[in-house]
Amino acid sequence: MDIAHVRNEFTAHPPLMREDLLEKPVAQFERWFNEALSAGVVEPNAFVLGTCVAKRSFQRTVLLKYFDENGFVFFTNYHSQKAQQITQNPQVSMLFPWFSLQRQVRIEGRAEKISSAQSLRYFLSRPKDSQIGAWSSPQSKVIDNRALLLNQWQNMKQRFAQGEIPLPDFWGGYRIHADYYEFWQGQPNRLHDRFRYRFDNQIWQIERLAP
Ligand SMILES: Cc1cc2nc3c(=O)[nH]c(=O)nc-3n(C[C@H](O)[C@H](O)[C@H](O)COP(=O)(O)O)c2cc1C
Repeated sequence: MDIAHVRNEFTAHPPLMREDLLEKPVAQFERWFNEALSAGVVEPNAFVLGTCVAKRSFQRTVLLKYFDENGFVFFTNYHSQKAQQITQNPQVSMLFPWFSLQRQVRIEGRAEKISSAQSLRYFLSRPKDSQIGAWSSPQSKVIDNRALLLNQWQNMKQRFAQGEIPLPDFWGGYRIHADYYEFWQGQPNRLHDRFRYRFDNQIWQIERLAP
């Protein structure tokens, strides 16, 4: 299938200039995140998490649940493929593709598990059925059929019918400590604006990159 004719000119948004940028990249991210929320970007907190082991790269979408100057937090199964990969190589990448704003943000950093007390706080804030879901799925394992999953969900629903559902010891959060950011704003004629933040000599260096 030849899809070479599928193209879109990026004309809807003003250019991104150096003077528009905040000195701290997390503050710049927060500004753009708020703009993505206001603009109604679909799943604005969804990002593509990249991992790399044994010279192969892997990616999947996960949901960002917290961020501040200490990092970016998402939740997952600690037995999953991504978790095993993070154990082998904690250096990961994040990509927020905010297409309707003709923007993307790339972030790189080191992932580490958050404390179980922090994971518990988020776990308890989830709907009960999602909590049961976390208990029910052996994420990334081969399973024979969907019935097995539903069966497991029913079992867990019965097991935890009474009282608070405990935090599974195989489930929790990772915090990504960012050391690189790139903000990309689409512009006409493929002359897009790109700025990167690099932590160098104890300060964030901001540089424009060619598109
Ligand atoms: C929109 C969207 C949001 C997702 N959010 C999460 C999430 O927050 N945590 C998670 O573990 N998986 C999430 N997933 C599923 C992952 O993409 C992936 O299938 C799963 O984590 C297993 O990945 P792995 O085998 O590489 O560990 C999400 C998928 C989509 C499409």
